[in-house]
Amino acid sequence: MIDTNTIQNILETARIDEVVGDFVTLKKRGANLLGLCPFHNEKTPSFTVSPRLGIYKCFGCGKGGNAVNFVMEHEHFSYPEALKYLARKYNIEIQEEEQTPEQVQALNEQESLYHVSDFAARYFADNLYNHGQGRAIGLTYFKERGFRDDIIKKFMLGYAIDEWTNFTDHAIANGYDKKYLESTGLTIVKEDKMYDRFRGRVIFPIQNISGRVLGFGGRTLSVDKKTPKYVNSPESEIYHKSNVLYGINHARTAIIGSDNCFLVEGYTDVISLHQAGIINVVASSGTSLTTEQIKLIKRYTRNITILFDGDSAGIKAAFRGIDMVLEEGLDVKIVLFPEGDDPDSFARKHRSSEVEDFLHKNAVNFIFFKTRLLLDETNGDPLKKAALIGEIVQSIALIPDKIVQSLYLKECSAILHMEETTLMNELNKIRRRNYDRKIKEQAAVAPEKVLVPPKPEPTESTEFDFFSTEYQEKDIIRLLMRYPQHVLTFEVKTDKEVQTYEFPVASYIVNDLRRDELHFRNPIFQKVFDTAAAAIDADTIPDETFFLYNPDKEISALAATMLTSRYELNDWSRVKIVVKNEADRLPMAVTHALLSMKLRVLEKKFDEMLASLKQAPDSEIMPLMSQQRKLQQKIERIAQELQRIVLR
Ligand code: UTP
Ligand code: MN
Repeated sequence: MIDTNTIQNILETARIDEVVGDFVTLKKRGANLLGLCPFHNEKTPSFTVSPRLGIYKCFGCGKGGNAVNFVMEHEHFSYPEALKYLARKYNIEIQEEEQTPEQVQALNEQESLYHVSDFAARYFADNLYNHGQGRAIGLTYFKERGFRDDIIKKFMLGYAIDEWTNFTDHAIANGYDKKYLESTGLTIVKEDKMYDRFRGRVIFPIQNISGRVLGFGGRTLSVDKKTPKYVNSPESEIYHKSNVLYGINHARTAIIGSDNCFLVEGYTDVISLHQAGIINVVASSGTSLTTEQIKLIKRYTRNITILFDGDSAGIKAAFRGIDMVLEEGLDVKIVLFPEGDDPDSFARKHRSSEVEDFLHKNAVNFIFFKTRLLLDETNGDPLKKAALIGEIVQSIALIPDKIVQSLYLKECSAILHMEETTLMNELNKIRRRNYDRKIKEQAAVAPEKVLVPPKPEPTESTEFDFFSTEYQEKDIIRLLMRYPQHVLTFEVKTDKEVQTYEFPVASYIVNDLRRDELHFRNPIFQKVFDTAAAAIDADTIPDETFFLYNPDKEISALAATMLTSRYELNDWSRVKIVVKNEADRLPMAVTHALLSMKLRVLEKKFDEMLASLKQAPDSEIMPLMSQQRKLQQKIERIAQELQRIVLR
C-alpha cells in the first residue's frame, strides 16, 4: 500500500494540464484548456481541463476526474499503478510495498535488457564513423542513399562489423552478461557456440516513445537475392513488436502539432521523409498494423494518413488493417504514390515543399478511396456491384461515430449512384449481424453466464426524470461539492426583531438531512455525505479540494463531474428556473434541493402507506388513515414551500 501522505502529495503535485498534456493537445480557452476528448470520438473539442480545480471533464461523453482518474482511464492503469506513474513523472518517492523476489527479478532483468541494447546501439553507431569497415561500407551506403549526418545521428544508425563475434566479444569485454546478450537476440547461442545476429549489415535501432532502444533492424548491403534483406531482433522482454512504431519518439510532438500521423512501411521511408522535413511519420516496420499500434497513434491524433507504393494489390491487402483503424474511431486517409515510387524514393527525388504539397493534394479519405477503387473493378457488373456495396458498408459500419457514419453513407451513395436508403438497409443488416456475433462471442467466453442484451442507452427523458430520487440526490451532492464553504444567510423574523443565521452550505446540508434522518439511495452519494459529515464533526468545513483530491477515487471522480457548469444548466432549466449565476442564489438552490428530496421521500412513503392501507385489517385502518392525512399535509406544505422558491 502507498501511504496516505504520499497519495496526498502526489495529488497535490500533479498538474492536470501537464498530465493530460502528455496525451492530448490542449489549447487555452479562458481559464481552462480545451482539447479533443481521448475517450470518445469527436471533431469539435468538448474536453475541458481546469488547471485551477485540477480536473478534466468531457462534456461530450461525461468522463471526468482528477489527474489520477485521467491516467487510470487513459492508460488502463489500476489506482496504485496510476499513482506510481504520477510519482515517477514528478519525482515523488514512493514508499513501495514489499515486492516479491520475482517482481524485483523481472524488473532488474528488463533494465539489463535496456542497458545492453543501448550499449549495442552506441557501439554500432560508433562503428559507422570510427571504424574503417564501418566508414567504408556502412557510412558510404547511407551517404549514397542521401542520408545527412544529422539525420544518421538522430536515428542512431549504425553498422555491424562483418565478423562472427565482433559485437559479442566487445560486449563481454565490457562486462555484459551473456544471458542478456542472448535474450535480446543480439547474440545467437547454439549449443556452446555464440555468434552475432547482425553481421555486415547497416543497423536501424528501434526505439520506444521515450527513446529507449528496444531492438534492431539490420539491412543487408548485398544484392544477393538469397540473403534476407532485413534481419530483425526477436521479440524479447522489452521488445514487443506489435506495440512498437518505428520513429514514434521523433514523430510524437509533430503528430500532436499537425494533428495527423503519416504511416509508412519501412525504416527508410520514415528517415527520408523526416529528412525532407516531414516529421510526423512512423512505420509499422514489417508487421502488419496492430490494434496496439493504432492505439499508440490515437494517443496523439485522430487522423492517420497511410502512404502506399503505387500498386493497388498492396492496398487491397491492407484493407483489413485499415478497417481496424476505422474501428478505433480514427479518420483514415490514403496517399497513393506514383507507379514505381515509395515514400523514400519520392522524397529523395523531390524538394521538401513538393513532397509536402504532394501529400496534401493526394490524401483521399479511405472510404471514398475504397469505394472508387472497387467500383472501377466492377465494370458495371451488377452482381459485382452488390458485393462491392457490402464491402464498403462493412467498413462504414465499423466507424463508432454515428454521425460520421451517416455522412459517409451519403457520400458513397453519390459515388455509387445508389439510393441512400439502400445503403442504410445494408448497414443495418451488418450492424445486426455484428451484434449477433458479439453475443455469440460472449457466449463462447462465458457460457455459464446468462446473456442479457445490453440495455438501450438511456434517452434524455429517462435520464432527466424530474421525479427520480437519483436526480434529487445528485443535486444535493452537487451543491455540497461545489459550494461547501459558501455561507448561506437566513433571516428569521420574530415579532420584535430580525435574527440572522449563517451556515456554510456543507454544514447546512449535513444538519438538515440528519435532522430528518434522510439517507441517499445512491451509495456513492451516501459515501460523499458521510465523508463530509465526518469532516464537519471534526470541526473542519470541507472545501472544493477536499472532494477533488479525496483519496477515495470514487469521490474525487464524482467531484470532477459535479464541478462543471453543464450540470448546473441542465438541472435548473429542467425546473424552469432561469439562473444567471447559481452562486448568487445559493440559499434558494440549497433549500430547493433539500426540499425536493424530502418531498420525493415523503411521496414514496405515502405510496407505500396507501398500499398497506388496502391490506390492513379493520382495526388498523383508522390510525393508518390519520397518519396518512398528516403525511399528506406535510407533503402539501413542502410542495407549497417549493413553489414559493421557484416563483420567487
Ligand atoms: P522494404 O522492403 O520497403 O524496406 O520493407 P525499406 O526499409 O524500405 O528498405 P529499402 O528502402 O529497400 O532499403 C519495409 C519494411 O518491412 C520490414 C522492414 O521493417 C522494412 O523497413 N522488412 C522487410 C523486414 O523486416 N524483412 C524483410 O526482409 C523485408
Ligand atoms: Mn524502401
